[in-house]
Amino acid sequence: MVDTEARIQSLREQINEHNYQYYAQDNPSIPDAEYDLLFQELKALEEKYPEYQSPQSPTQRVGSEPLDGFRQIKHKVPMLSLDNVFDRSSLSSYIEKIHERLKADSGLEFVAEPKFDGVAISLFYHAGVLQYAATRGDGETGEDVTLNARTIKSVPLQLRGQGFPEELEVRGEILMPRAVFNAINQSSEAAGEKIFVNPRNAASGSLRQLDPAVTASRRLHLFAYSVGYFSGGGLPERHSDTLKLLDSWGFATSRLTQKVAGDSGCQSYCEELSGLRPGLDFDIDGIVFKVDRFDYQQALGFVSRAPRWAIAYKFPAEEAVTTLLDVDFQVGRTGVLTPVARLEPVFVGGVTVSNATLHNMEEVARLDLRIGDAVVVQRAGDVIPKVLRVVPERRPDDARLILSPDQCPVCGSEVISIEQQVAIRCSGAWLCPAQRKQSLKHFVSRKAMDIEGFGEKLVDQLVDKDMLKSAVDIFSLDIQDLLLLERMGDKSAAKLLKSIEHSKKTTFARFIYALGIPEVGETTARSLASNFSNVGALLNASEEELQTIDDIGPIVARNICHFLQEPKNSDLIKALLDLGLHWDSTEAIEGTADSPLAGKTVVVTGTLTRFTRDEVKELLLSSGAKVSSSVSGNTDLLIAGEKAGSKLLKARELGVEVINEDELEGWLAE
Ligand code: IVH
Repeated sequence: MVDTEARIQSLREQINEHNYQYYAQDNPSIPDAEYDLLFQELKALEEKYPEYQSPQSPTQRVGSEPLDGFRQIKHKVPMLSLDNVFDRSSLSSYIEKIHERLKADSGLEFVAEPKFDGVAISLFYHAGVLQYAATRGDGETGEDVTLNARTIKSVPLQLRGQGFPEELEVRGEILMPRAVFNAINQSSEAAGEKIFVNPRNAASGSLRQLDPAVTASRRLHLFAYSVGYFSGGGLPERHSDTLKLLDSWGFATSRLTQKVAGDSGCQSYCEELSGLRPGLDFDIDGIVFKVDRFDYQQALGFVSRAPRWAIAYKFPAEEAVTTLLDVDFQVGRTGVLTPVARLEPVFVGGVTVSNATLHNMEEVARLDLRIGDAVVVQRAGDVIPKVLRVVPERRPDDARLILSPDQCPVCGSEVISIEQQVAIRCSGAWLCPAQRKQSLKHFVSRKAMDIEGFGEKLVDQLVDKDMLKSAVDIFSLDIQDLLLLERMGDKSAAKLLKSIEHSKKTTFARFIYALGIPEVGETTARSLASNFSNVGALLNASEEELQTIDDIGPIVARNICHFLQEPKNSDLIKALLDLGLHWDSTEAIEGTADSPLAGKTVVVTGTLTRFTRDEVKELLLSSGAKVSSSVSGNTDLLIAGEKAGSKLLKARELGVEVINEDELEGWLAE
């Protein structure tokens, strides 16, 4: 019997330690399968010997009975709120004021912590054993969510180690990881059920479930951020050291928490954490700065409901509600019409947003959008603004349907829909000024013909004045033409003519890219340039021939053929060459003539460890190589990664030179 009790005790200790490593330290110590064995053994022993059962056992997280309501719990010390600042200069003013109040030199120490975007919780321990867990409620009284909190693996049921006060109330934030949130919403959506608006609501809803088994299934997480109350023991003199102790007692504290000094330290932390924010596992909505020394905290005290010793710097809101005023259709280079939401200007994610792309009419239908709707707009980080959803309760009676146009809003040509594609297109091609403008802007752009000083406004003016019908006209512009334009003097006109002339010497790849063939970006243009010796060869290429080039699939091959077979396009190409556009045919790619890879037809196969496929391809192309997808008599070199298969065999058969990843690096370095 004594052995059984000792074994149960030992199993509990082992499991608690593994839980701590896994949930608090994010550092799993044993494989899941081994953990499961320990857990099953403990469960079996506890079932067989009920006299040894204990509420602190790691098997006792999920109780059996659902509740019919939550009991109220009065907090021993009120749970206060934090004062906010919304920009960095207000943060500086706060830091400066604190220095003044404490008569401190400039480098006062603060603890900078993420402001977790979840639900606040208070956990009360007696002699290291969890007694109850309460929500914040109104700050004075919260709800008893003990049974639910016990199901959260990062909430210690029993504190680790020693030295904790007899009574200890720990505060922290309960969060739902973004991945869990997405998974739950995905399955709710598939089942036609209501979805959560954000991880915070999901965490809050999950914590306030009457059935703890539901809470357990939601995989919530706790980050501890302070001690609310303690007696019968002591705490360190600093908040930073208290966090370290909480960590050692079994709580998860955030790795992102840092000690910083003075305003400059706080500001650089803002910079750093804002950058990390999009990649975090959890939502955070700001940063909390806390004066580190407790004696300073005490001296600073409180103002009404918030401590003076801490401040929350709130990130600019990423979502806001505004009104959809109208939907315009923008015409792109290839004639695709894109619906664009015109919005009542709204400040979101640090900028004022008044437009957002709606991508295509399928998206408009998916959002069930009407003009006049209240819409939620999101702008996260540097990402372009997006309409997330409609607020259906706020739809006005006169909200209007958004109809797909049957005429191009710019040139009036018929709008056509393309088989098997969601996009709709203006059929006007070069007759449509919008398409012409976009094509010409693309033609002169930096990565294409790179005509310096030929900006977008200039293109707009020239097309509006009917002075540019196609790219050919660029090369017949003269000084008289240019002087007719706004803000164009002798000097800038002469300079522009010089850069037009200068651009005539280009590269084959740039020339191909400048043509604006649908789906032919820079990389594909480079592939084409290194696989065809001249324009004539490219113009004659068949779809099959194009498909042998690495990365060119059937759709891109068809686009290229269609484009080049269109008489107006082949005429344009010939006219441009007649005007003197040229490139060095021995040097297909700028500056690659010396590379050992220049001009070689290369195939890549197998798994590479140091590069992605795209990276290798990009590197090869920029060294002047041609990249092909299959090994043939034309192949000069095979780069074989791990698990190379039939291509390697074929290369050996044909006597093609084969190199591995290390050798490739050497070649590239040359
Ligand atoms: S300390 C006296 N630290 O923010 C207040 N709060 O307005 C002490 N919160 O609902 C709070 N992350 O739950 C503190 N690192 C953090 C926090 C944090 C999020 C929440 C807290 C409360 C609100 C305070």
